[in-house]
Amino acid sequence: MPRKRVAVLISGRGSNMAALIEAAKASDYPAEIALVLSNIADAGGLDTARKAGIQTAIIDHKPFGKDRAAFDRAMHEVLIAHRIELVCLAGFMRLLTPEFVALWKERMLNIHPALLPAFKGLDTHKRALEAGAKVHGATVHFVVPEMDAGPIIMQGAVVVRPDDTEATLGARVLKVEHTIYPASLKLVAEGRVQVVDGRCLIDGKPVPDAGALIPVA
Ligand code: GRF
Repeated sequence: MPRKRVAVLISGRGSNMAALIEAAKASDYPAEIALVLSNIADAGGLDTARKAGIQTAIIDHKPFGKDRAAFDRAMHEVLIAHRIELVCLAGFMRLLTPEFVALWKERMLNIHPALLPAFKGLDTHKRALEAGAKVHGATVHFVVPEMDAGPIIMQGAVVVRPDDTEATLGARVLKVEHTIYPASLKLVAEGRVQVVDGRCLIDGKPVPDAGALIPVA
């Protein structure tokens, strides 16, 4: 089967993007990272992508002002020009219009640093600590118009330690992110994920044989 052409959308350091690039180096990985697109010209991840020999594109959102639809259309054109089949949001800090989301329905993934539906939005590690959460983690999901919602593809959990700070907890969650994002993209690229009634089935089952929750000590 030809490898699926994937674009990774970033706004920052791009460590999840790097994990996807790394995974896609394996000859049996079902997807190739064909494009890294950033709305920030000096996003750290762009250098990493260039060094890995991956095509990059920058679409600065500022000239578009409040016209999110025009910004999204510009992105869509670039994605189409690169014959992109799947999109991975990886620290991409722009809200997307419902029109753009619809064009990429069940073909656009996002990673969120919390066990959704808990702790949507920003500062997830801080809020998990403040709430006294005992377990925290990360979620890969299909993108829907509502932010940090959408059918869950995979989650990974970490146990919250008594001495955790935002930084230590965030670092452990980030490791989980780097595992579950490539694993999720693999499943989607292989066509093994189906959305039924707003939930993901993997190989036709609610939970894949290997388990969709990756516990990390
Ligand atoms: C990650 O924590 C991701 O879950 C969130 O934004 C952060 C991006 O980090 N959506 P990086 O740019 O992938 O290093």
